[in-house]
Amino acid sequence: MPRSASVAAVSVRQAVRQFGEQRILDGLDLDIGAGQFVALLGRSGSGKTTLLRALAGLDRIDGGQLQVPQARAAVFQEPRLMPWKRAWRNVSLGLRGANPEARARAAMEEVGLQHRLSAWPGTLSGGEAQRVALARALVREPKLLLLDEPFAALDALTRIRMQQLVLELWRKHAPAVLLVTHDVDEAVLLADRVLVLDRGRIVDDLHIAQPRPREIATRHLQEVRRHLLGLLGVESNAEPAPNHSFYLTGTHR
Ligand SMILES: Nc1ncnc2c1ncn2[C@@H]1O[C@H](COP(=O)(O)OP(=O)(O)OP(=O)(O)O)[C@@H](O)[C@H]1O
Ligand SMILES: [Mg+2]
Repeated sequence: MPRSASVAAVSVRQAVRQFGEQRILDGLDLDIGAGQFVALLGRSGSGKTTLLRALAGLDRIDGGQLQVPQARAAVFQEPRLMPWKRAWRNVSLGLRGANPEARARAAMEEVGLQHRLSAWPGTLSGGEAQRVALARALVREPKLLLLDEPFAALDALTRIRMQQLVLELWRKHAPAVLLVTHDVDEAVLLADRVLVLDRGRIVDDLHIAQPRPREIATRHLQEVRRHLLGLLGVESNAEPAPNHSFYLTGTHR
């Protein structure tokens, strides 16, 4: 499906969110084009989850405007599955329209869990549970997929597999993606744009045009990485994780 950045999936104007005296979002503007893959970085407590929750419709804003597609879905750091419902029922829960069971099964298949359809959530590994959460999001055919550190609790190898899966699913279904991450390399390897949130606003917006799979060790991506780490207050000459991009194979885009 062609992706046009001109059709907005998200439009935020002058968003304000305040908790007591603390103004977490402070006149934030953000546009995301349809089908764009955007990563959001920012220090802990900078308001990334606050922004995501507002975009997901799970929280309000105190000022400004938000425009988001009706069809949107979120995946968080923890899978948030109902322990008393089997995996596929977690995916079909609340689904409207025809054949919810068949659609849930198809989504489970897409995340590689066709053999775990009837598993109880308590028996799933961390990575499997996150894949069920991803299937539950996908089955809603979102135009906007909100991901709040969805890989953070996973071991390094599972994390790389999940990144690859998210890229594959993004290519296939073409939602706009907003991925919150603490991992600068992850942002640089996956996203079309990398945003930095600071003091309630987007303070940087880098476009990365390199085709995927990307190699973090290239000079340009190293510069991008150093720049982002600098903005996040990390002075680093550290080498990126070895062979990180080695696993991010798949079709170029
Ligand atoms: N419901 C709430 N009531 C009061 N304060 C809140 C509430 N939700 C968030 N905050 C505060 O807003 C600030 C931003 O929180 P948020 O969770 O959005 O940060 P974050 O960027 O996602 O951080 P992290 O990277 O650690 O996940 C924090 O200081 C937090 O304590
Ligand atoms: Mg957060």
